[in-house]
Amino acid sequence: MPLPIKKSLLSLLVMAALLPFDSPARGAESTRGTPVAFGLLPDGTAVEQYTLTNASGLVGKVITYGGIITALEVPDRSGKMGDIVLGCDKLADYLRPTPYFGALVGRVGNRIARGRFTLGGKDYTLAVNNGPNHLHGGLRGFDKVVWQARYLEKPDGPALELRYHSRNGEEGYPGNLDVTVLYQLSNANELRIDYQAVSDQATPINLTNHTYWNLAGRGSILDEVVTLHARHYTPVDATLIPTGAIASVAGTPMDFTRPKPIGRDLGLLDNQPQGYDHNFVLDRAGPGLQPAAEVYDPPSGRVLEVLTDQPGVQFYTGNFLDGTIRGKRGIVYAQHDALCLETQHYPDALHHPNFPSIVLPAGQVYHSTTVYRFSTRP
Ligand code: GLA
Repeated sequence: MPLPIKKSLLSLLVMAALLPFDSPARGAESTRGTPVAFGLLPDGTAVEQYTLTNASGLVGKVITYGGIITALEVPDRSGKMGDIVLGCDKLADYLRPTPYFGALVGRVGNRIARGRFTLGGKDYTLAVNNGPNHLHGGLRGFDKVVWQARYLEKPDGPALELRYHSRNGEEGYPGNLDVTVLYQLSNANELRIDYQAVSDQATPINLTNHTYWNLAGRGSILDEVVTLHARHYTPVDATLIPTGAIASVAGTPMDFTRPKPIGRDLGLLDNQPQGYDHNFVLDRAGPGLQPAAEVYDPPSGRVLEVLTDQPGVQFYTGNFLDGTIRGKRGIVYAQHDALCLETQHYPDALHHPNFPSIVLPAGQVYHSTTVYRFSTRP
């Protein structure tokens, strides 16, 4: 069973002497598969950063804290590499409240109304950490724990396997849950994320990744062009809890069934802070991986395609970014400077019998895959 990384007292002392508390090990580059130190948690746990480089030179960086994707470098149409994800330069900044930059989210991503649910005749109470609701797994969700990592050199591209044991009762959820996430930067220029989990009791589960994409590397995403393979979405109340309806996007600002600049209809939305923060119901033509979304940045030519086996995707336009976070390379993140495409089951599914269930029966293996594919257009 995976346990938190344990370091001997001696190696801890040596590391503490070598590293300031939040050192990003700037300038240090790992040799293939060997991590570099990314800093220490206040309790002394070491956090490491792994680098995945595929055959065409795409680079992905992942830290063991939160399974956070800290960088993803892909070429533009002229071959110039650029980092297209938001994040922080050093561990200390990830330890301050961040809006889940690049992180693995669980046990249940998105919201559970009032932080309460009933399963198998038992009532469960979770942390209420987002207005009146429970969000993204609670106070110390999977985005704030240290994962055990193993680098894998696979024929179709390098991968990082992350494991975490979430004990029965952690953040209020039932069952000992063993989670394995595989990040692979394939030689087909895809970031493939495979999620697997198994629990000894029935438990709700809805795993996702919360990367903030900006295909230009910085600035507003409102001119990026989005397509969502979704003719329906789940309308929400003022606290972003679905009403239970599955509504058509036709004739509304939610219609991204044809490529549309994000900013075109955003001003018509009546939520505050204004922007997209909605679960789209994917038009699935069958089981397995299906296209969910596409983002195109005309100036750079970069294209991101998202494929998933999940029934929904939360399209979020960084509405809560407010210029108070200074991220990588000193860039200040303002509202709408990034977008998220959180592939998932629908929010608050536990309270809506008409939504696909997020309950994982005891002993059954949860499996889910999302692929982010990178390319350019002339
Ligand atoms: C999700 C939610 C948003 C927001 C972000 C994190 O996308 O739907 O409302 O909470 O996470 O800031």
